[in-house]
Amino acid sequence: MGASANASGAGGDRVWTVLELLKWTTDHFASKGLETPRLDAELLLAHALGLRRLDLYIRYEEPVSPDVRARYRALIGQRANERMPVSLLMGQKEFWSLNLKVTGDVLTPRPDTETLVEAALARLPDAERGYEILDLGTGSGAIALALAREKPRAQVTATDLSPRALAVAEENAATLGLSDSVNFLEGSLFEPVLGRRFDLIASNPPYLMRGKAGELAPELAHEPDVALFGGDDGYSVLRPLAEGALSQLAPEGWLLLELDPSQAETVAGWLEEGGLVEPEILKDLAGRPRVVAARCPGP
Ligand SMILES: C[S@@+](CC[C@H](N)C(=O)[O-])C[C@H]1O[C@@H](n2cnc3c(N)ncnc32)[C@H](O)[C@@H]1O
Repeated sequence: MGASANASGAGGDRVWTVLELLKWTTDHFASKGLETPRLDAELLLAHALGLRRLDLYIRYEEPVSPDVRARYRALIGQRANERMPVSLLMGQKEFWSLNLKVTGDVLTPRPDTETLVEAALARLPDAERGYEILDLGTGSGAIALALAREKPRAQVTATDLSPRALAVAEENAATLGLSDSVNFLEGSLFEPVLGRRFDLIASNPPYLMRGKAGELAPELAHEPDVALFGGDDGYSVLRPLAEGALSQLAPEGWLLLELDPSQAETVAGWLEEGGLVEPEILKDLAGRPRVVAARCPGP
């Protein structure tokens, strides 16, 4: 089936079934070098149809109306030609089983960040305790909302430099019924919480090197620079976080930082130099160093 068949187009009188459209789009996406062509095709067709992806499987033989095909064609063009991430085209992304709204003002939450959430929960074992938790650089609210959902007694504070990101995070909190559990504050680094101490500080800060921007996947061009780049060396946010954490942690409180695998040893070293103890490097699902954890000494 050639491109001239225009499977996604609204024109023409040929009837296209769900399965035929998926096959055509998968081939098209693969020819454009997309990494997950079938998954992307399924997510976008389900979105155009107003269904969940799994619902497609029992509708393979159903015809797709010209209206839906027109919507789908527009999505296919944005995905294949402009390399818009599927999450942005759908306006949502699932993270820790929470459905989060995403826009061009926030980083799309990544599965790697679930490693950080898991590590945080393992360090908050007491179900009855009202832990004080900070998520610094909350973006869509992913980490803060996952922790608030899992730890209903916790007081979660979520900060971000970007007011537009905070607006998305607050909307996500409201949609999930978690507005009372999370306090959102605008500001850089520890400035919005100076003088406070937390049982756990989690952060997935921007950590890419600006000089490497040209080597990154084209999809990243659709995400905010402030969410991606940590200055020329990648450490412009990680370094002050590591240096400032000791005075913001409660005795025996934990710091958890997500970072690039190449940065793990360096940051673990800074944490020890800064007075934190028990530094540990945790791996993501692909087995790469992804999170550095360390704790404040006891009283
Ligand atoms: C990599 S994104 C992480 C978003 C979200 N926590 C997640 O894991 O999906 C980094 C976030 O940090 C914010 N940020 C960047 N520099 C910051 C700073 N100096 N202080 C506070 N937040 C900052 C960005 O606006 C962005 O939302």
